[in-house]
Amino acid sequence: MRITVIGTGYVGLVTGTCFAESGNDVICVDIDAEKVARLREGISPIYEPGLSELLVRNIKEGRLQFTTDLTEGMTDSALVFIAVGTPQGDDGAANLNALWAVTDQIRETATEPKIVVVKSTVPVGTNAKVLARLNKESKHVHRAASNPEFLKEGYAIEDFMKPDRVVVGVREPEVAKVLEELHRPFLRTNHPFLSMTPESSEMTKYVANCMLATKISFINEMANLCEALQADINDVRMGIGHDRRIGFQFLHPGVGYGGSCFPKDVRAMIALAEQKGLPAQMLRGVDQINEDQKHVLFHKLTEIFGKEMSGRTIAIWGLAFKPRTDDIREAPSLVLIDHLLKAGAKVRVHDPEARENVKEIYGSRLTYCDRAYGTLEGADALAIVTEWNEFRNPNFDVMKALLERPVIVDGRNLYELDQMRELGFTYHSIGRAT
Ligand code: UGA
Repeated sequence: MRITVIGTGYVGLVTGTCFAESGNDVICVDIDAEKVARLREGISPIYEPGLSELLVRNIKEGRLQFTTDLTEGMTDSALVFIAVGTPQGDDGAANLNALWAVTDQIRETATEPKIVVVKSTVPVGTNAKVLARLNKESKHVHRAASNPEFLKEGYAIEDFMKPDRVVVGVREPEVAKVLEELHRPFLRTNHPFLSMTPESSEMTKYVANCMLATKISFINEMANLCEALQADINDVRMGIGHDRRIGFQFLHPGVGYGGSCFPKDVRAMIALAEQKGLPAQMLRGVDQINEDQKHVLFHKLTEIFGKEMSGRTIAIWGLAFKPRTDDIREAPSLVLIDHLLKAGAKVRVHDPEARENVKEIYGSRLTYCDRAYGTLEGADALAIVTEWNEFRNPNFDVMKALLERPVIVDGRNLYELDQMRELGFTYHSIGRAT
């Protein structure tokens, strides 16, 4: 099948590359000429495990191409995927400017009827508007479908190749058939292809992310309560998780969710509810708890050092919003860094992948360290923000020797309380006794 994918962000690039890998001829379109030039060389603009290898292989085998020219990109493709960004607008709702620009261009340049598949996360009802806009005074009768993406950064290729389910929103059974055929290489027993209306499909994407965000805010609220009530959230998590109705997944307490999806999608859902005159009380709570949770490590540090921190040096391990990515969008680390700089502290940071992205924001205001241990030199405390594997089993003696004071505030509960006590660390974590 020949496929066009518009937008080479996370979703577009992974979609295009994986469809090429499963034997299709794919052409990816992006307006960013520099990005396209690098992609043609097989250079990925993002750090995503496994992506570079697939990019290089499929380019070499001629199944994957990149262009800035949408007209050229659409030639001979019956299927056109839209995977442009839908960032949060000022009012909390998704900003659809890029989506409309691309829809108009498809209508104006298509030389034959297309099936336009919207992969971007869009407000419920958008697909119907895309369809109307595609066919407004158009020479051809185009069709539109919705196909939300559920991949996680850091596991994007795996999630795309082995999805838990594929959801499509269609009006015509023939369109569902084409999309099912395209996804067949990725479908496995008990991991279904679910066809529904575009509205339900669009809603599914938001509900999935809102549910996951709700789990995180729920467990963070319970963790804070545990701390106040002398209980241990790790034990409580075990105690509840064995109930199969509850389970263990996505119930890790931490420093709040970040990234380009949960914060934006929860707020977009609230905005949609508002438009319909519904209160969305649960989601407002989820959002607010998360905003508050991003301050938790700074509060723990002020309990130890006071609010005024000039003369103090704080080391930070982990800047990306989660491990296996260099993405720092809405990352809790940024909230902590802002607090520390404002309080007058010197800040030394380390992250295996995200240092350069953080440097673009803070420049010389921070000290960037290549090595995790080096970050600790002369620091009054270590704050752990992201749970990269390399932080899980460190040499505590080395850490103690390097730190000015043996203080750790751990936003990801990486270490055992007993062990830290025995080693003589002042150790504060989330939802557990100190
Ligand atoms: C999320 C969803 O998991 C994907 O299914 C979805 O496709 C994607 O958004 C999207 O809409 O594009 P992602 O943002 O890559 O994926 O990251 P997650 O792995 O879901 O983590 C999100 C945040 O939640 C991270 O900051 C992570 O640290 C935090 N988290 C996650 C917790 O604090 N506790 C947990 O138990 C799990």
